[in-house]
Amino acid sequence: MKIVGIGSAMPSLVVTNDMLSEFLDTSDEWIVTRTGIKTRRIISTENLVMLATDAANKALEKAGLSPLDIDYIICSNTANNYVTPSLSSIIQGEIKAQAPCIDINGACTGFINGLAIANAFIAAGQYKNILIVAAEEPTRFCNWQERDTCVLFGDGAAAAVVTVGNALKTIHLNTSSYTDVLYYRRKLEPTPFLNNNEQGAPLVMNGRELFKIAVSASIEDVKFVLKEASLTPDDIDHYLIHQSNKRMVESIRQFLNQPEEKFPMNIDTCGNTASASIPILMDELCRKKVLKKGDTLLLSSFGGGFTSAAAILTWEMED
Ligand code: ACO
Repeated sequence: MKIVGIGSAMPSLVVTNDMLSEFLDTSDEWIVTRTGIKTRRIISTENLVMLATDAANKALEKAGLSPLDIDYIICSNTANNYVTPSLSSIIQGEIKAQAPCIDINGACTGFINGLAIANAFIAAGQYKNILIVAAEEPTRFCNWQERDTCVLFGDGAAAAVVTVGNALKTIHLNTSSYTDVLYYRRKLEPTPFLNNNEQGAPLVMNGRELFKIAVSASIEDVKFVLKEASLTPDDIDHYLIHQSNKRMVESIRQFLNQPEEKFPMNIDTCGNTASASIPILMDELCRKKVLKKGDTLLLSSFGGGFTSAAAILTWEMED
């Protein structure tokens, strides 16, 4: 498998920390110091389908493929307006593709899970060109009356087109059942047969606990994929770590004893965009021509589940 197209689309509204402190007991100083976030994009006039479609079209254009060349569409998403149809089905209609579609929910690791699924289908010879879209609006399941989670998140979408190739060196997926550290519970319709009254819940996050679990998991995953690929930390050109918190990315970098320029970040302008964070960053680095053909990338992500995932791949797109 190799990536041949990448694109992203962000909401138009830029929300600063000062805008949040107008209605929450928080401050620019607290948010920047604890997380590195200065601004984030939040859906207002547009919707998630529009962003996902825009990102998908940009990735297809970059790949030089038409929507009809796509054999399979995977959409990574944590929550959106629809229970059914799947977001991937809607995206298919919008971009005018004709391919089987599936949504996956691997929380923030969804994009790397998407790469793993695409790689398996390509290796099996079942599909050739696969579109992976990561479209997320975590701001829609945060509690906006409390300061603890909503300040951390932003919305956005990114897409990658992958095809037959040998760029993927190794990929590693994990889930361990820490279901209590991070969850969002949607309220479903009551039926006459339920004897308990189910309650919904906006995003609940045990930030301190998650910080430790996520940093340890990422370091373990990084060590694992490096070993699998017979590489050392120095052999990696760019570490694309899930943009959850600047301090978390820094902790991982310091453990690996690598220079800052190998750990690019955009959390300052995007916040945490869940599974869209790595492909949004990848697209940004591609457009800035930071990623050069032949560079080795290590991706590492972690989130609700608790899930974590990592992959090593060679960048094969022309500058
Ligand atoms: N503004 C001001 N003060 C705040 C805010 C806020 N927005 N939020 C919390 N505080 C206060 C707390 O009430 C607490 O006050 P107290 O000391 O008087 O009790 C104080 O700040 C410290 O709170 P902590 O939660 O201990 O702060 P911490 O340094 O741990 O930072 C944070 C919190 C940013 C959430 C951090 O723990 C973190 O990033 N955790 C990891 C989150 C994560 O892993 N996310 C990624 C996976 S999930 C996903 O991507 C979907």
